[in-house]
Amino acid sequence: MSATAPRPTEGGQEATAEPFVPPPGFRFGVATAAYQIEGSTLADGRGESIWDRFAHTPGKTVNGDTGDVACDHYKRWRADVELMDTLHVESYRFSIAWPRILPTGAGTVNQRGLDFYKRLAEGLRERGIEPVATLYHWDLPQALQNGGGWAARDTVERFAEYARIVGAELGDVVGSWITQNEPWCTAFLGNAIGKKAPGLHDWPTALAVSHHLLLSHGRATEALRTVLPAGSEIGIALNLFPILPAVDDEAHREAAVVRDGYVNRWFLDPVFRGAYPQDMVELYERETGPFDCVQDGDLATISTPTDFLGVNYYNPMRVEPSDEGPLHVRDAESVGPVTGMGWEIDPAGLRQILARVRAEYTSLPVMITENGSAFEDPEPADGVLEDPERRAYLAGHLAAVGEALADGSDVRRYFVWSLLDNYEWEDGYGQRFGIVHVDFETQARTPKASALFYKDYIDRARKGA
Ligand code: FCB
Repeated sequence: MSATAPRPTEGGQEATAEPFVPPPGFRFGVATAAYQIEGSTLADGRGESIWDRFAHTPGKTVNGDTGDVACDHYKRWRADVELMDTLHVESYRFSIAWPRILPTGAGTVNQRGLDFYKRLAEGLRERGIEPVATLYHWDLPQALQNGGGWAARDTVERFAEYARIVGAELGDVVGSWITQNEPWCTAFLGNAIGKKAPGLHDWPTALAVSHHLLLSHGRATEALRTVLPAGSEIGIALNLFPILPAVDDEAHREAAVVRDGYVNRWFLDPVFRGAYPQDMVELYERETGPFDCVQDGDLATISTPTDFLGVNYYNPMRVEPSDEGPLHVRDAESVGPVTGMGWEIDPAGLRQILARVRAEYTSLPVMITENGSAFEDPEPADGVLEDPERRAYLAGHLAAVGEALADGSDVRRYFVWSLLDNYEWEDGYGQRFGIVHVDFETQARTPKASALFYKDYIDRARKGA
């Protein structure tokens, strides 16, 4: 264990708790995504994405907020990299906007788009920060959506081609690659529930989308392997949730099994076992029609070996059955404190999820590719912003990472969501997840107390290691 003595700082107990000892190769990071921070949506030949279209459709987002400007990171990236450096961040997970590289999803490559990410990755390297790139964080080129989007099998091949192009260009500077981010959100929140782009309400479409996203992960992995240098790492980022029956009776337990099938097993099973969960296939076929988009060989492609699993963890889900039938398991009341999103705060859930992944699915290395919280912050005063709840959330979840390591999970990265307050999708700019405050009028950045806590935590972890 580290010999670093707890320091009497201004924070509560959580701020001085001894950091875990980072294993060799472990890095502390921060994460963002292209549409949430970049802005400059028309710059340098970028094409339209489904999020441009969705955000500009009246009624789809809070206040009609769009990512047109966001954090203006496309122009301010150098200062943002410098900011990460001052916070002693060791790794940066960002996403590449497909419509910057291939404005219509296919065809002519837009070199200016590639150059932006190349400069960013090199700028990170110059400061000793590791770049980790996500290929798809929800911004499908609108032209591909016009041809059916992810429900069309052809989009899978377009994605593999995009992956090959980006990998060939950036493979010498970016060593870690994430194919898909949270395919559950893309597929179901985007196509069955309609809360996210492209805003559809169609279960058969959502199921086809989910299959094609998984297939695209496999195909992109294969494509990347042909162009990346040996030693590069590839994985998928899944959002995983502990599922808790609100009441311990049979109906609630059944609802929990279905919710678990819907959000967790539908993705973990094909990736790590090469099969969709049979109970869910039967449920979907009964409730929504044939699940007939799976072709011979697809599951072998989806379960192609990768190098790590990305886990996005925010909260557990408490569930109850609904009168509308098994497809419509409902969210039950949270227990205990929640974040600004209404998400229940439970650091132990992170440890549980990692234990489950290890016990039931894989011993692959894990990256915590997202973890964080939104709270209503005060305005910064004299360059200071106290955000004790976010800091406590961070401290609690870092402690859970330490426990997961002690349990035997091979955790290699921890990325805070997010570096900056940013465009929180359909919730617009109202939900602030940043450890750095952004004034969206002036674009001024102010590190919050949680950012200073994180910096101090990293420093203490490194001293103790
Ligand atoms: C995740 C997304 C990320 C961000 C956080 C709060 O689902 O991957 O872009 O919106 O939630």
